[in-house]
Amino acid sequence: MKKQTKQTKQTKQKQTKQKLPHRVADISLAQLGRKEIQAAEKEMPGLMKIRDQHKKNKPLRNVRISGSLHMTVQTAVLIETLSVLGAKLRWASCNIYSTQDEAAAAVVVGQKGSSKDPRGVSVFAWKGETIREYWSQTLEALSFLDAKGKLEGPELIVDDGGDATLLVHKGYELEQGSSWVKTTSQSEEEKEIKRVLLQRYKEDKGFWTRTMKQLKGVSEETTTGVQRLYQMEKEKKLYIPAVNVNDSVTKSKFDNYYGCKESVVDGIKRATDTMIAGKTAVVCGFGDVGKGCAKAFRSQGARVIVSEVDPICALQAAMEGYSVRPVEKALSEGDIYVTTTGNCDIITLAHMKKMKDQAIVCNMGHFDTEIQVDALDKDPSVVKEPIKAQVDRYVFKDGHAIILLASGRLANLGCATGHSSFVMSMSFSNQVIAQIYLWEKQKKLSPTVYLLPKLLDEEIARLHLEHVHASLTVLSKKQRDYLGLKQNHPFKPDRYRY
Ligand SMILES: NC(=O)c1ccc[n+]([C@@H]2O[C@H](COP(=O)([O-])OP(=O)(O)OC[C@H]3O[C@@H](n4cnc5c(N)ncnc54)[C@H](O)[C@@H]3O)[C@@H](O)[C@H]2O)c1
Repeated sequence: MKKQTKQTKQTKQKQTKQKLPHRVADISLAQLGRKEIQAAEKEMPGLMKIRDQHKKNKPLRNVRISGSLHMTVQTAVLIETLSVLGAKLRWASCNIYSTQDEAAAAVVVGQKGSSKDPRGVSVFAWKGETIREYWSQTLEALSFLDAKGKLEGPELIVDDGGDATLLVHKGYELEQGSSWVKTTSQSEEEKEIKRVLLQRYKEDKGFWTRTMKQLKGVSEETTTGVQRLYQMEKEKKLYIPAVNVNDSVTKSKFDNYYGCKESVVDGIKRATDTMIAGKTAVVCGFGDVGKGCAKAFRSQGARVIVSEVDPICALQAAMEGYSVRPVEKALSEGDIYVTTTGNCDIITLAHMKKMKDQAIVCNMGHFDTEIQVDALDKDPSVVKEPIKAQVDRYVFKDGHAIILLASGRLANLGCATGHSSFVMSMSFSNQVIAQIYLWEKQKKLSPTVYLLPKLLDEEIARLHLEHVHASLTVLSKKQRDYLGLKQNHPFKPDRYRY
């Protein structure tokens, strides 16, 4: 493992001397990546139609966009769509395990370049980064150079989980006199964030202030990132406009639900080859992701236990026929555990000590806070036995063992390749429209969290109908009048919940 990191480092150092700055694991994977991207494009009708609609007028012409979002094949189609719309991009992943190295290589090489002469987009991501490398690459993705070689920041950010947004805000606060970087760090992540901020401060004391001035906004992909944004807004610590992409109906009610429904099983199967039928699956959290995961396990023939704190979601789970109880009361039965809460300490060390032998434990929430992996790693009575990349067995004193996937990070992206292209086409169509929205409406927007207008949400759904052989019923004038619907207004009011 150590050796591999060293080798990758050498490759990366060589690569940075090239014309197009980038850091990927292996540029020679580009051909494979290109074939996968071409296949994905056929399943991403929304993104491809948006590309066609805007390729001439280029609404993002020369706009500097930084991305911090899983560097997968589907993200490659997003990046290349933004590029067709005129943007200049730099990209990092938002998770240390989620990069598909062939996709990263193909994006760097681009459609007209070669491994020796890459002409695509600057990507800084590889599968299996360390935390230190991760934060350095996030900083790289935010660091453009102007014509004179001076550092300049992005004008827009595509974020997933809020790490890029966090860096820009913390950097700005540092330059405004905050002493947060000097405080004691609670985690390795926090230490690394402070390290990169101090590094940039040493290089350029005005970088983040300049960046903040030029930044027109961020579009945020996921539930957890959006929660962070609303919190920042409430505390008056959000300094740029933000679009909440997650809560577009065509994102969270599709990606979080249907996406996870397929990719949770993909992750578990690729990691363990375990039979799901006949097993008992414990799903912690019954929001959009939890609903998808529970459905997936049931459809494979597993018994499903759900744990929830919200009475409405708990009742929904019960009405679906799932057993609902706290995780403590499922420990003697569970064979597979999946956390989907976006919260912390959902599966504790004490829980894992009481689990059945060979229980599989994994997380589908954005951050690695849901399972107490740190405590597990630090417990001297527990022996860790790596099985393969992103799959570890932990043996307890009494002889029972659990299998932990992706060190408690997103199992569908760490052990498989995330969601399928079609559902990502919906999420990423929202991202592209949000980027255009932020750019075109920049003068009218304030540092607030916005939702995309419902008409655009409907439009994104419309773009995807044909691909699934769906055709709409058209309202007659009488029916429209009966419902009180005006032309060019959304079908549903904002209060409608789908
Ligand atoms: N793996 C993926 O591909 C993927 C896709 C989309 C979202 N996400 C992430 O998954 C997480 C969940 O997203 P979501 O959209 O389902 O959010 P959500 O808010 O709809 O659902 C989370 C649920 O967890 C419940 N919960 C909170 N604390 C709990 C606890 N202690 N015990 C039991 N339940 C608890 C909440 O009541 C809520 O119903 C987020 O971190 C999100 O960013 C991951």
